[in-house]
Amino acid sequence: MTNIWKELPKPIFALAPMEGVTDTVFRRVVIKCGKPSIMFTEFTNCEGLQSVGQSRVIHRLQYTPTEKPLIAQIWGITPQHYYNSAKMIVDMGFDGLDLNFGCPVKNIIKVGACSALIKNHSLAREIILATLEGLNNKIPLSIKTRIGFNTINTEEWIGFLLSTAKPACLTVHGRTVKEQSAFPVHWDEIAKCVELRNQLSPETVILGNGDIKTYQEGLQKISEIGLDGVMIGRGIFSNPWFFDPTADPASKTLKDRLEILKFHLDLFEQTWGNQKDYHIFKRFLKIYLQGFEGAAAIRQKFMDTNNYEELRNTIIYFSHNLV
Ligand SMILES: Cc1cc2nc3c(=O)[nH]c(=O)nc-3n(C[C@H](O)[C@H](O)[C@H](O)COP(=O)(O)O)c2cc1C
Repeated sequence: MTNIWKELPKPIFALAPMEGVTDTVFRRVVIKCGKPSIMFTEFTNCEGLQSVGQSRVIHRLQYTPTEKPLIAQIWGITPQHYYNSAKMIVDMGFDGLDLNFGCPVKNIIKVGACSALIKNHSLAREIILATLEGLNNKIPLSIKTRIGFNTINTEEWIGFLLSTAKPACLTVHGRTVKEQSAFPVHWDEIAKCVELRNQLSPETVILGNGDIKTYQEGLQKISEIGLDGVMIGRGIFSNPWFFDPTADPASKTLKDRLEILKFHLDLFEQTWGNQKDYHIFKRFLKIYLQGFEGAAAIRQKFMDTNNYEELRNTIIYFSHNLV
């Protein structure tokens, strides 16, 4: 088996899986600004993948070769569907498969999936074993999770994952499910995960995740805790150049920002056309239109657009009149 996690140069800076954000288009925008070590797809439901409604979810696994190395992330509750999805993901040419054992969304917990598995070791074990069987040693398994459900439970839960799955990579978001994204990240617990890894599964790569705002901060956490790398989610929303340590976002002009926005818009329209609603695109505007004087007022003009053409005209207008 080619284990991409062993081949990546350290330290690893990974782009987090983010539903509704990190699709094939956004991943290419991120690459243009500064390439992460590795990226993930949005989480994809394996029941959906194995149903007649497959066409409604398969777009989440769409990618182009430039986005590699790329990991497909899946979630669900049925081991047989994990097994079949694992086979499919191998055939689709992904570099690895990631299990989402961390999503805290209420409706998902209600069905017993993702972070609910922190309280259901027996189903988690079945899912891990079914997935490993489907992967058949062709690509590596990784897991993304949190440090407990209602209370911190690092030793038991992370210990269980490391000894049961011996994953090639384990990403730890240093909060419990109950803490959602609001509480400070428990970096001391992430440090415990590194110790547990050393004892239970020395080959596993550990990525720390939560609230990392700059590349420098990422480097600091990696060296303080002895991590193999970090995973960055919302940090990309305030700085699309996050993964280029030489780029200073404060020095980026409105022209630089509009160029990236235009690149994103063209690729989004080309790739999704009417398959995704135009208004979905508007959630990305803030990424490019912030951090400079008068940004909020300018952003509002862009938010008022109703279709691709209006947005394109607004970009042209500001490119000619403000920079
Ligand atoms: C909009 C959004 C969508 C997300 N979707 C996923 C997902 O599909 N799979 C997943 O494992 N985590 C998902 N997450 C969680 C992130 O991957 C990450 O763990 C979390 O945001 C904490 O990292 P950060 O503080 O660097 O953002 C999502 C987060 C956000 C903000």
